[in-house]
Amino acid sequence: MKALVLAGGTGSRLRPFTHTGTKQLLPIANKPVLFYALESLAAAGVRELGLVVGPYGDDIRRAAGDGRSFGLDITYLRQDRPRGLAHAVAVARGFLADDDFLLHLGDNFLDGGVAAFAARAVAAPAAARLLVTAVPDPAAFGVAEVDPDGRVRRVEEKPDRPRSDLALIGVYAFGPAVHEAVAAIRPSPRGELELTHAVQWLVDHGHDVRADTTTSVWHDTGSVDDMLEANRHVLDGLTGRLDGKVDHDSAVVGRVLLGEGAVVRGSRVTGPVVIGPGTVISDAVIGPYTAIGANCRIHDSSIEGSVLLDGADVDRAGRIERSFIGRDAVVAAPRHPYAHRLVLGDHSKVHLHP
Ligand code: DAU
Repeated sequence: MKALVLAGGTGSRLRPFTHTGTKQLLPIANKPVLFYALESLAAAGVRELGLVVGPYGDDIRRAAGDGRSFGLDITYLRQDRPRGLAHAVAVARGFLADDDFLLHLGDNFLDGGVAAFAARAVAAPAAARLLVTAVPDPAAFGVAEVDPDGRVRRVEEKPDRPRSDLALIGVYAFGPAVHEAVAAIRPSPRGELELTHAVQWLVDHGHDVRADTTTSVWHDTGSVDDMLEANRHVLDGLTGRLDGKVDHDSAVVGRVLLGEGAVVRGSRVTGPVVIGPGTVISDAVIGPYTAIGANCRIHDSSIEGSVLLDGADVDRAGRIERSFIGRDAVVAAPRHPYAHRLVLGDHSKVHLHP
């Protein structure tokens, strides 16, 4: 089956990181979110994959290439503006032709992948098949009302008063009728062509629309807290390996993946932790549940439950928890002990200890 992955959008809830890059390339355990979707689709037997990209399309192309390293053949499809998920499907109309396809949102992480869902979609084709899961806060998602036999009666996008607790995970399977639905719907009040409206159109016009419920761990990595939670989950399954150097004054405990050329000096690292190549950790306490990118420098600081992107520099910063630190960002103790000096990008957040 073909697949379509959506990696456009603005990622406004992930500012400031999305001022300079796209959210689908932000890492979970040092691997871009998007790659988890690509790997899971490849594992489900997909070969031809359309990747819808927005303004950061070149960055995504540089990262994912032609798809060969994933066992995929990727066709890049450009969406001029984030006009909605259904609009992204319209952009891919030529690529998809009249074939059945899987659709995966590029910022969604689903533990265990989509192979079982894809197999069901092949075995019992429907005009649309949705993957849903029970959540405590359905109003934040697309919500499906599903009959006991799995037939979808209604879908609504982020309803004020949800009729069920079944959220739409960003994984769908469609037959060609979806194109008729996408062509028929109009933009929602937020100005987007909503995929949920296209699905509702299919229901209203008598098409077979089904939902499969999953209990697998799922993260819509739309916010920093979601990213930290997904990171924690993936690190739970980490396999440790020390490809870098650990000196005699250090202790590395539990599952730690230390990249090539990385150095740990006079420090304690408690897994699960991943540390990227070329990173130097000195006189520090790291972990658990921490992912540090490549070529970072951490000195005389303590970091737990956090993500640091490539090139971050943390020096005498005290204790850092539940933080997400951007590429080449610098966190250091103030020279003057009673004053903070801040050089922050737009939409940055700093939580200062009183
Ligand atoms: O995460 C699951 C939810 O995803 C579903 O429950 C909702 O029904 C569905 O509408 C969607 O809601 P979000 O508000 O989370 O969608 P978001 O705008 O974050 O976009 C999801 C992905 O699609 C993201 O990788 C960006 C990409 N995208 C988004 C839009 C609006 C595009 O490629 N083009 C677009 O026009």
